Amino acid sequence: MKILLRGKHATHELAVVLGAALSTAPRLSHARVIALTGELGSGKTTFTQSFGKFLGVNRRLLSPTFALRSQYKTQSKRYPILEHFDWYRLKGIQDLSPIGWKEALNDPARILIIEWPERARRALPKSFTHIKLAHTKEKERSAVITFHGK
Ligand SMILES: Nc1ncnc2c1ncn2[C@@H]1O[C@H](COP(=O)(O)OP(=O)(O)O)[C@@H](O)[C@H]1O
Ligand SMILES: [Mg+2]
Repeated sequence: MKILLRGKHATHELAVVLGAALSTAPRLSHARVIALTGELGSGKTTFTQSFGKFLGVNRRLLSPTFALRSQYKTQSKRYPILEHFDWYRLKGIQDLSPIGWKEALNDPARILIIEWPERARRALPKSFTHIKLAHTKEKERSAVITFHGK
């Protein structure tokens, strides 16, 4: 399904709707994963900031371009930890073990949001939510949302 996001606020609303849906959905045997694809400026970080705010993250969320990963406490009982990954600088799947990807993925109490997941596509679990963002106009983005697995 493709939706148009007219203005930053629409990206915020998408994050809130998805946050509400996922934070009441049953836990999986591993972490919840949201993969965000889309060119620079398509709204990946904006989405993640709104998602974090909805879950009750009280720190300012910045893209972890150099650290590749940052972790936040949420107010959600089901998902008390939100992790934000930015794999832009990743060369491949081999770069994931030093940043503790497996440990994060194996924890059912976490939600992991990944920018640039295509850098290590094979590291994603069978069940994940894919949001494909695109820059359509100066003040408009589009989103295609696909649920893979459970
Ligand atoms: N739906 C939208 N409509 C208009 N502008 C948006 C929308 N979503 C995000 N933006 C703006 O696009 C710019 C880039 O967003 P950002 O989240 O940093 O993109 P990315 O992380 O994909 O590079 C920001 O200035 C943000 O406010
Ligand atoms: Mg970004």
